[in-house]
Amino acid sequence: MPRMNAPIPPSSTEAGYYRHHVFFCLNERPNGEDCCALHGAKAGFDYCKRAVQAAGLSGPGQVRVNKAGCLDRCSAAPVLVIYPEAVWYTFIDESDIDEIIESHLKQGKVVERLLIPAHMGR
Ligand code: FES
Repeated sequence: MPRMNAPIPPSSTEAGYYRHHVFFCLNERPNGEDCCALHGAKAGFDYCKRAVQAAGLSGPGQVRVNKAGCLDRCSAAPVLVIYPEAVWYTFIDESDIDEIIESHLKQGKVVERLLIPAHMGR
């Protein structure tokens, strides 16, 4: 039986275990409907993961790059979101990913030109 009122471990309450958490939608729809997988999401994810590691930015206190399912903003595909800022980006190629890493993840500056407009949803 689980302990009731057990204290929450400090590690799960500390803000900023990762300074930035990057989620890439890699959703694929078998019925052929449009989705991030049809817009280079996996290649962008793989590239970002490698580039963040190569820059020495990955790990606790720094950056974590994760796969995600549909984030429900499919009309802007491919989609990624960075927390804790909750900044949503789209991208076309590796140079866009490089700019997000350099500007947002390293310097804390939003890349305005890659932002997903607020009205774009599913
Ligand atoms: S398929 Fe990527 S946001 Fe929905």
